[in-house]
Amino acid sequence: MKITVIGTGHVGLVVGLCFAEIGHEVVCVDNDPHKIKTLEDGQLPFYEPELETLLSRATDSGRIRFVTDLAAGVEHSELIFFCLGTPPLPGGEADLSSVERVARQIARLSDSYKLVVEKSTVPVLTGERIRKTMQIYSREKGDVEFDVASNPEFLAEGSAVVDFLYPDRIVIGVENGRAEALLREAYAPIVDQTFEWRLEHPVPADRGKSVMLVTNRNSAELIKHASNSFLAMKISYINAISNLCDAVGADVRRVAEGMGYDHRIGPEFLKAGIGFGGFCFPKDLEAFIHIAEKNGQDFGLLREVERVNTNQIDKFIEKVRHEVWVLKGKTIAVWGLAFKPNTDDLRFSPSLITIERLLAEGAAVRAYDPQAMPEARQTHEQVTYAESALDAAAGADALLLLTGWSEFRDVDLAELHARMVRPLILDGRNHLDPEAVRAAGFEYVGMGLPQNGEAKPPAAVPRG
Ligand code: UDX
Repeated sequence: MKITVIGTGHVGLVVGLCFAEIGHEVVCVDNDPHKIKTLEDGQLPFYEPELETLLSRATDSGRIRFVTDLAAGVEHSELIFFCLGTPPLPGGEADLSSVERVARQIARLSDSYKLVVEKSTVPVLTGERIRKTMQIYSREKGDVEFDVASNPEFLAEGSAVVDFLYPDRIVIGVENGRAEALLREAYAPIVDQTFEWRLEHPVPADRGKSVMLVTNRNSAELIKHASNSFLAMKISYINAISNLCDAVGADVRRVAEGMGYDHRIGPEFLKAGIGFGGFCFPKDLEAFIHIAEKNGQDFGLLREVERVNTNQIDKFIEKVRHEVWVLKGKTIAVWGLAFKPNTDDLRFSPSLITIERLLAEGAAVRAYDPQAMPEARQTHEQVTYAESALDAAAGADALLLLTGWSEFRDVDLAELHARMVRPLILDGRNHLDPEAVRAAGFEYVGMGLPQNGEAKPPAAVPRG
């Protein structure tokens, strides 16, 4: 099939390259000539596992083209995916100006039927707005037909390619059979798992059969915001529990494990820490609260999710102060800058927010991240960037682990101990093994973990 993808950000590029990988002929459009040039030169504008391989395979097979000219994209295909940015406006609402502009342009450029598919996260009823906009601006062309569908992405950074090729579900929100048939055809190789990549990359153990769910457009739009908000709620829930664990000397990892065995709860997204970040959860929560309000619903539950998340950084800073006392003049090592491992994305990163707080209190920060340092150097010049995890810890009064990169588990603890002024680790992601770290002579503080491995007596004797 011929497919056009508009926008080559984290979503668009993964969508375009994966569609090419499963056999479609794809044109990716972006109005940023620099980005298009980078892609044409075989480079990626950001780090994402497997994407480089997909880019070279798609380029070699001739199944992908990168263009700045929207008209070329519109001409290429009747199936057009919108992967445009929907950043938050100051009040938390999603900024849909790119979506509106491109809808207008496509309406004017189209001479034949088009199915516009919303892929990036948009508030419910955006599809209806796009449809009306296209109707208005296609008037001068006469009776060109078009449909608008919603097909939300559920791609997590760091596993986006796997998420696209082996999805839990593919949600299609359509208003008629023509749109449904086109989308079914586009996704058939994934539903039937008949693409080549699968031969070399067997289905990961945690992926089941992909379900295709066909709904109306409004329901599909809601599914995306409802899913992300639910996941954010799970994280804030376990973070609230971790604070209680801190108070009573319980172990949040065991509590999460005990909860997760219940198949109705499940074990995922119950990792306590300094909270969620990234370009999706914080902005999607805000936008969803807004949509609910606009429709007469006060989503106080989600406000609390946000509050708990913001609070986690305060709680963590309190722990740092409790251990280090005066921060001014201290050298603090930081492991991890990205908002989560396996990405170089710094947007809404809890690590960066924490670092800003440390700097504001007069601490010197020595940081290391396997991928995100080039980007961080541009915005956080006060930080000293280290060559390695060990180098970051040189002369440090404390080490803060803020992003759970797997390589941090492999650091030689004896060597680390030797480099630090005070062998103190505050683990904001409960990423290291407290026993191993303490056995190596470190003081270790996690989130909702018993201090020094010993459970404190409960603050109050339970009734009953
Ligand atoms: C998320 C959704 O998972 C994805 O389906 C959607 O399409 C986009 O938003 P992403 O933002 O890439 O993806 O990251 P995700 O892996 O969901 O993590 C988000 C944040 O939550 C990270 O900061 C992570 O560290 C944090 N997190 C996650 C926790 O603190 N605890 C957990 O148990 C899980």
